[in-house]
Amino acid sequence: MNATLPTSETLRAALAGLLEGEPPARTAAAVDRLIATYRGTTPTHTPVLRDAADAAAYAAYRMPATFEAERAALGALADAAPGWAPGSHVDVGGGTGAAVWAAAATWPGSRTTTVLDWAGPALAAGRDLAAGVPALRDTRWTRARVGGAAGELPACDLLTVGYVLKELTPDDRAALVAGAARAARAVVVVEPGSPDGYERIMAARDLLIGAGLRIAAPCPHDGACPIERGADWCHFAARVGRSSLHRQVKGGSLPYEDEKFSYVAAVRLPAQAAPARVVRRPMTRKGQVLLDLCTVADGLRRETVTKRRGAEYRAARSADWGDAWPPPQREHRQGGAERERDPGSDA
Ligand SMILES: C[S@@+](CC[C@H](N)C(=O)[O-])C[C@H]1O[C@@H](n2cnc3c(N)ncnc32)[C@H](O)[C@@H]1O
Repeated sequence: MNATLPTSETLRAALAGLLEGEPPARTAAAVDRLIATYRGTTPTHTPVLRDAADAAAYAAYRMPATFEAERAALGALADAAPGWAPGSHVDVGGGTGAAVWAAAATWPGSRTTTVLDWAGPALAAGRDLAAGVPALRDTRWTRARVGGAAGELPACDLLTVGYVLKELTPDDRAALVAGAARAARAVVVVEPGSPDGYERIMAARDLLIGAGLRIAAPCPHDGACPIERGADWCHFAARVGRSSLHRQVKGGSLPYEDEKFSYVAAVRLPAQAAPARVVRRPMTRKGQVLLDLCTVADGLRRETVTKRRGAEYRAARSADWGDAWPPPQREHRQGGAERERDPGSDA
């Protein structure tokens, strides 16, 4: 692994540095307030992250998880567009910069990066966190309101919108996604993996397709989602190793948690969506693996991969929820975006 690339370990170390000197009681109180706000009614009309303590609390409480979810979504885009790497990245509502870390972990090499957010303290915390990581040091942290009547978004190769749509009104969401479709060659939107997060992703997906972009991931096609609305929702899980700092801030004793997320990656560049995607945690039985797939030809279907299928069986045994099926060749990812060995994984 290239030591200069940001990883969850580098992020963890940077977060520990950010919280150094912050009285734990103050951080815990700020986390409680954030939890109450995020459970309550959003959109908000003013920034939720009001000061340095709020921003530090958000970073410690949420950023390891949003980083992993965004890294998984960007990884799926990278698999669909082998050989492509963004030369410029705009992270809209980027806060403390989780998607900037995720992009740098996915595509090694330099690019111009701009984070837009209306919360100055979040941008300041993001800048501090990134200061020790060469790949992130030149990021521009720009205070800006997004959505609605806000101006056009800057033209870029990659535009990310991570965990932001919930904070906007439906009109602002639509305006933001339409603006993203105009500005970027690849747009990646990530939301919590809840029924309402999935609905916001579906609305964004419709707008992106309507604007002429094609779906690169997670869907294997640009057609209607085969999931029965109201009965289920498309979401995935990213495993997040929990540091003692993280456990201290969030409570709980497990060494990991699973961040549930929904996402869409849409492009106007050459890309090939996976023929199918694993949409549930695979089930391993004696001599067989059961894969629940979303496919081009048959919509949702279960595939049973038996031991007799040799290499395919071995691939199925290491397949994970959210993976493309069959597994893509990953040489193009130069080692940087290969999945880090998951400390808490039982695989
Ligand atoms: C839940 S945080 C997500 C931060 C980051 N994208 C991540 O994935 O960790 C939502 C971010 O959106 C920003 N935001 C919400 N509404 C906004 C608006 N109208 N204009 C600019 N930023 C906004 C917030 O300040 C906050 O930083």
